[in-house]
Amino acid sequence: GEADAEYLVSLVRSVPGFPNENVLFRDFMPVLADARGFQIMMKALELALPVPISEFDYVAGLEARGFLIGPTLAYNLGKGFVAVRKAGKLPPETIGKSYDLEYGQARVEIEQGTVKPGDRVLIVDDLIATSGTAQAAADLIEQAGGKVVGFSFVMELIGLNGRGSLGQVPCSSLITMH
Ligand code: HPA
Repeated sequence: GEADAEYLVSLVRSVPGFPNENVLFRDFMPVLADARGFQIMMKALELALPVPISEFDYVAGLEARGFLIGPTLAYNLGKGFVAVRKAGKLPPETIGKSYDLEYGQARVEIEQGTVKPGDRVLIVDDLIATSGTAQAAADLIEQAGGKVVGFSFVMELIGLNGRGSLGQVPCSSLITMH
């Protein structure tokens, strides 16, 4: 309810100047550290699923903070979990997708054979900003023959149009902020 939503928002820590001077960093670690906050967040993610639970087979979490909530959500929903990792962490064979950052490039990888043709996947992370990583993860899953049916985020930074960049795929977030 309303009180739960307010409590959740109150636990997010805002840190000006991290990791560099123009950023107001939204830190959700205190939500996880708080027993009630953690339960509220996980229950809210379930209630706010962008598609019905019957419409996906896997939850895919993005390294690193998507690894905190993704497996928890997957376990609660009775789904498998797929780790979308930064390049070079997973043993071969992997498949990967490179993408552009503001400065430079990054690459995400999954283990080959984890996502099979026809598998339906919900992508989860703590926060959507520009959506660059989420889009790269979605491209990678589709490259494997999977179908990305939705995105779930705890926090959404508005004004960056991250959601707009995700196209027509349903997307839900619990908290919106600037
Ligand atoms: N918090 C966490 N991750 C982020 C943020 C933020 O404010 N902005 C971009 N990635």
